Amino acid sequence: MNRPLISPSLLSANFADLRADIEQINRSDADWLHIDIMDGVFVPNISFGFPVLKYVAELSEKPLDVHLMIVNPEKFIEEVKDLGTMMMNVHYEACVHLHRVVQQIKDAGMKAAVTLNPSTPVAMLADIIRDVDMVLLMSVNPGFGGQKFIVHTLDKVRELRELIAHTGSQALIEVDGGVNLETGKQLVEAGADVLVAGNAVFKAPDMLDMIHRLKSL
Ligand code: DX5
Ligand code: ZN
Repeated sequence: MNRPLISPSLLSANFADLRADIEQINRSDADWLHIDIMDGVFVPNISFGFPVLKYVAELSEKPLDVHLMIVNPEKFIEEVKDLGTMMMNVHYEACVHLHRVVQQIKDAGMKAAVTLNPSTPVAMLADIIRDVDMVLLMSVNPGFGGQKFIVHTLDKVRELRELIAHTGSQALIEVDGGVNLETGKQLVEAGADVLVAGNAVFKAPDMLDMIHRLKSL
């Protein structure tokens, strides 16, 4: 079992002092920085927009893992690319022409990930799994940090691991929502490659130590 990649979610950072939190992440064992973009339509919340993220991107030394919780995410491929994004995550539920959107993301020079809401079955990925670099399984309903982990996600991770093995896909498995030391351990045992953690990291007394401990699961 490999050590998981850790992608701290900036949604739980101190928005009054993002610079301090990003500098902490830069100094940590974190692998990526997870950024949640919301539109108040696809999810019942709004987070940060591109004018703020431009400065976040300049400060971050970690590759950006950008999670778009918006309708019509294909409209913003250029803006996401201009941040220097490594991985662009779009929701399965937000893309009627998912195959086209995945190709557009890759043509723009980014890695492409497809995200599933908790109620969307892994089986829906059968015809796209070979084309994506990562699948992001939501383990809470998207929109807010600090929610309780949905335990059924562990079954979805195992099912996705099988689908990846059977199809010869190279996709990584990332999980987002309610991840802490306990749920993180269960996820790694089930086959997750990347753990997103918001509250567990940014509300920890020692952020660097928490990231190190998650990374050591
Ligand atoms: C929720 C976001 C998550 C969120 C996770 O919609 O996609 O990335 O920040 O926060 P925690 O880890 O606190 O559940
Ligand atoms: Zn997220």
